[in-house]
Amino acid sequence: DPKLDPFTTLLDLKLGTFDPERGPVQVRTQEDLRGFFQADPPRPDELVYRVMPVPVPTENSEIQCSTTVLEPGTVGDEYYMTKGHFHAVRDRSEIYIGLAGEGCLVLATEDGRHRVEPIREGMVNYVPGGWAHRSVNVGDEPLVFFAAYVGDAGHDYATIERDGFPVLVCRGDDGPVVTDNPHY
Ligand code: F6R
Ligand code: ZN
Repeated sequence: DPKLDPFTTLLDLKLGTFDPERGPVQVRTQEDLRGFFQADPPRPDELVYRVMPVPVPTENSEIQCSTTVLEPGTVGDEYYMTKGHFHAVRDRSEIYIGLAGEGCLVLATEDGRHRVEPIREGMVNYVPGGWAHRSVNVGDEPLVFFAAYVGDAGHDYATIERDGFPVLVCRGDDGPVVTDNPHY
């Protein structure tokens, strides 16, 4: 017998909000990102991003989805970004769809390969299993994207907190600059 009943929610394609909301909004402040940015947070209470979830059972047979709204800003030279994670079940994949703003998706494998892909309205980013991923807002407006991923993927933040990503995305005089992470 099917485990779930069908449901429908309305996604605001500009704001990334769901109506009705399906689950508790996750809020991440500068303080929550301490240790992920190179610099200590200058304004610990300031909002960096929110995740709006559409919760379903965390099982391989389901598809989780959510939207992320990442504010514009910097800590030190680094643009506001998500913590970033490997999926706890390493081979689980994910799809991002850009809804608003200007962003970068930084991806890295455990053996240190990396890629930087653009996130923009209408762009579809494929995140294959085995690639850690972090989104970065390199614009002046909120970066909004939709994500759908395998239900039992889970999140491994600890590896990123310890090692970081191979590259940093920083504000330069003429826009974003991708540099090697000296602490990786
Ligand atoms: C889920 C996923 C996104 C992120 C969200 C916040 O697998 O990749 O929904 O969870 O963008 O980023 P993190 O989880 O790195 O804080
Ligand atoms: Zn993910």
